[in-house]
Amino acid sequence: MDEKIFIGVAWPYANGSLHLGHIAGCYLPADIFARYNRLIGNDVLMVSGSDEHGTPITITADKEHTTPQAIVDRYHKEHTENMKQLGISFDLFTRTTTTNHEAVVQEIFLDLYQKNYIHRKSIDALYCPTCARFLPDRYVEGTCPYCQKEGARGDQCDNCGKLLDTFELRDVKCKVCGGTPVKQKTEHLFFVLSAFESKLKNWLKEKEYWKANVLKFTNNWLQNGLHDRAITRDIIWGIKVPVFGFEQKRIYVWFDAVIGYLSASKEWAKHQKEPSKWQEWWKNQKANHYYFLAKDNIPFHSIIWPSILMGYDESLTLPYNIPANEYLTLKGEQFSKSRGVGIWVPEILKRFDPDVIRYYLSINMPENKDADWTWSDFVSKNNDELLGTYGNFIHRVVTFTSKNFGAIPEAGTLTKTDIEALQKIQDTQRNVGEALAQCSFKKGLREIMNLAQYGNVYFDHNQPWTLVKTDAERCKTVLHISLQLVQALAVCMTPYLPFSSERIWKMLGHTDQIQHWDDALADIHHGTPLQTPTPLFKKLELTDIVTTADPFSKLDLRVAKILEVSDHPKADKLYIMQVDLGPLGKRTIVAGMRPYYQKQELAGKSIVMVTNLKPAVIRGVESKGMLLAATDTNHIVSLLDPKDSSPGAEVGVDGIAHEPAPVLEFEAFTQAPMTIDAKGTVVYNGKQLKIKHMVVTTDRAVKEGAKVS
Ligand code: MF3
Ligand code: ZN
Repeated sequence: MDEKIFIGVAWPYANGSLHLGHIAGCYLPADIFARYNRLIGNDVLMVSGSDEHGTPITITADKEHTTPQAIVDRYHKEHTENMKQLGISFDLFTRTTTTNHEAVVQEIFLDLYQKNYIHRKSIDALYCPTCARFLPDRYVEGTCPYCQKEGARGDQCDNCGKLLDTFELRDVKCKVCGGTPVKQKTEHLFFVLSAFESKLKNWLKEKEYWKANVLKFTNNWLQNGLHDRAITRDIIWGIKVPVFGFEQKRIYVWFDAVIGYLSASKEWAKHQKEPSKWQEWWKNQKANHYYFLAKDNIPFHSIIWPSILMGYDESLTLPYNIPANEYLTLKGEQFSKSRGVGIWVPEILKRFDPDVIRYYLSINMPENKDADWTWSDFVSKNNDELLGTYGNFIHRVVTFTSKNFGAIPEAGTLTKTDIEALQKIQDTQRNVGEALAQCSFKKGLREIMNLAQYGNVYFDHNQPWTLVKTDAERCKTVLHISLQLVQALAVCMTPYLPFSSERIWKMLGHTDQIQHWDDALADIHHGTPLQTPTPLFKKLELTDIVTTADPFSKLDLRVAKILEVSDHPKADKLYIMQVDLGPLGKRTIVAGMRPYYQKQELAGKSIVMVTNLKPAVIRGVESKGMLLAATDTNHIVSLLDPKDSSPGAEVGVDGIAHEPAPVLEFEAFTQAPMTIDAKGTVVYNGKQLKIKHMVVTTDRAVKEGAKVS
């Protein structure tokens, strides 16, 4: 109580919409924690903002033929609005392109430079001769030397989480032009991490209460030795380097972003008209600093950020805890903007109330292991738990009381079960509080749901609908206790479901807002008029949800390699082909390509096919899939060309999740018409089909507007 709690939440890149992986990974847990701490009377400062620098943003701007500024303006606005809609209660959600942030970053940079924690070094960098520029980390891609996974970026492998040095990557390619970059010298500034090694180790010694995954990522990093890290880049988008001779370079986005925690605190204080108020959290060793982030951000917060703080000003408060989550997955796959796997926040907010989303993400939070989002589980948790157990208890108690008494009835003599119910309220409130204080969010929520379940049993057992006719006094007591349970539920649920909790609070006749955690235990006052209750939650039908999703997401499009081709014995236009789908195995398909392609042209070629169509028997041969080809108005037919992508690779478009139906009717396939655009690329709804980052074209020239089937 009365503690200072700083909550820093990872700054989302202003480079695309937020997806539910972001929300489950850090914004929701941070918000639950913040709301709980405010309720128990702690002084919380929770900040974050859009991370607006870095090469991914310049990549997006290049792709969209616009400026980085236009991109970040668009997404900062969207993020800010989404956070608000979801009820993420930041004290400040700012951005890294403010002059305040720039000034704080440059001051720290210069300070570290003057203290020799930053020094210059001429290094080999990758230069793309075709693009005539040095390639920042994100502009190169290759094979991870540690886990051998392809598609690792120049700075980090998403598969094994290792931070990488660009030159460690094997088979590097320029992401812009696909060309092979060459080594060339360039001068950069380096942060001397090794200078902080012993201090870091000392500080980390007492962090045995950190989550296992956080300790693991951190210790892994320490064991590999602390190497100097380049903190300038050869780009033009970012914060200027305040060192003579580096005018053409910019500060590395991660160095700038983590400083956001401090700069945002200062900005917040200025807004409060108390410009030094940030010091109450930052120059206070008793303040506890919590950082919420996804696991791929761990070393930046457990090693780099503390080192910057130690180097800049010893008196600043270091992180107390970093309760990073694992990943939320969709069908076992990590959410990813580039691969189009995900559920986007602006979309889902159009379809469901924020508390419905918050409930499922909380009860299914990837706290200690990855958690999978499935629509059927979302529907059943909503229907059975949120509506069936929780909403239903509240609704029946308030409706029944309101109908029969209009106000909170007075309690008479309490029975053993009534006293037990009151005890249960106390125990639950205490247990939930303990769980929340330890960031055990699922555990806390389960406790609350147990209390709701208990409430239902209490209500059923006492049968107030019978008592109302036989024993009005006892009936009043039962309803009084039931309402006491309702109130406790609303208060304990506030951190998780703030919107519906306030509604319940109002139903109980309160005119203010929920103020304190102990409001859960406060005696309700008999005679207080109840507000007419309206249902809190709605029943969902899986079929409504599935049919509203984009028809394209139901297609399973994959790269296949043709192994063998033979003539169909019973049809002169058809070939029978053996194709290899990599991890999905080998299959036979029948295709009408004989008038357009020679057998020898096809053998060994890679194609794009629909793999989940209902198998069709074509002139006596079963075809398990359909290859895709474009046909234009001149009757030129061309296969789609996946270049050298590996068999089995997914073909998709940005922003649409890959959620293929187990079996797709041909009719459903026609709902997602694809055509060829003016650039010769394949598009669905104006969006280019892609395999990883590569756009799909045809292997022969066809006219614009050619239809794909
Ligand atoms: N933008 C980064 C990401 O999405 C997170 C930055 S966290 C910060 O992975 F601390 F650096 F801001
Ligand atoms: Zn290039």
